[in-house]
Amino acid sequence: MSTIKKTTFSIVVLISGSGTNLLAMIKAIEAGTLECEIKAVVCDQAQAGGLVYAREAGIPVEIITSEEFPSREDYDTALKSCIEKYSPNLIVMAGFMRILTSGFVKYFEGKLINIHPSLLPKYPGLNTHARVIEAGDKETGSTVHFVTDKLDSGPIIAQEKIPVLPGETAESLQERVKNLEHKLYPRVIQSLVEGKV
Ligand code: GRF
Repeated sequence: MSTIKKTTFSIVVLISGSGTNLLAMIKAIEAGTLECEIKAVVCDQAQAGGLVYAREAGIPVEIITSEEFPSREDYDTALKSCIEKYSPNLIVMAGFMRILTSGFVKYFEGKLINIHPSLLPKYPGLNTHARVIEAGDKETGSTVHFVTDKLDSGPIIAQEKIPVLPGETAESLQERVKNLEHKLYPRVIQSLVEGKV
């Protein structure tokens, strides 16, 4: 009887900060609802809070800080080599706070996704929650999209909404949007694993 080896879908996750989306992926993998392996977590901040989740889960951590490189192109060349060591099927940006060069983005096009805390195309860029409140919007949410060389503008894979509640602050909205993301992002990655996107 021949044994058919199931190939494991592998991802590399890029973070800069608190890493709660990374934690949601780790938990989903543990729960069996996300069928992939996180080969490495790459981070541009040596002290990022999210690194603890990677280390606790035994995931290799790669820190590449911008000070080591004279230009964005040089940084992205190093980032590309680092990612390629792991030959991932997918590169998942989860709060990675760098604008990538178009050479990098084109090289990985179709394999590079990001989560953005707004209903794109509304509010690309930073401070989304404050801008939602300022504009008096009645709803907001989060978007998972393929990354292209235009900031927060690549093809949308999935989007989910929540209402903006009375008395909401940027902080409360950030927390509620993140809670939504923690379900949305693992689910979208699983659809990619299953080839449904
Ligand atoms: C998320 O809200 C994501 O949409 C945005 O950055 C935040 C990252 O949060 N791109 P965390 O580091 O996963 O906690």
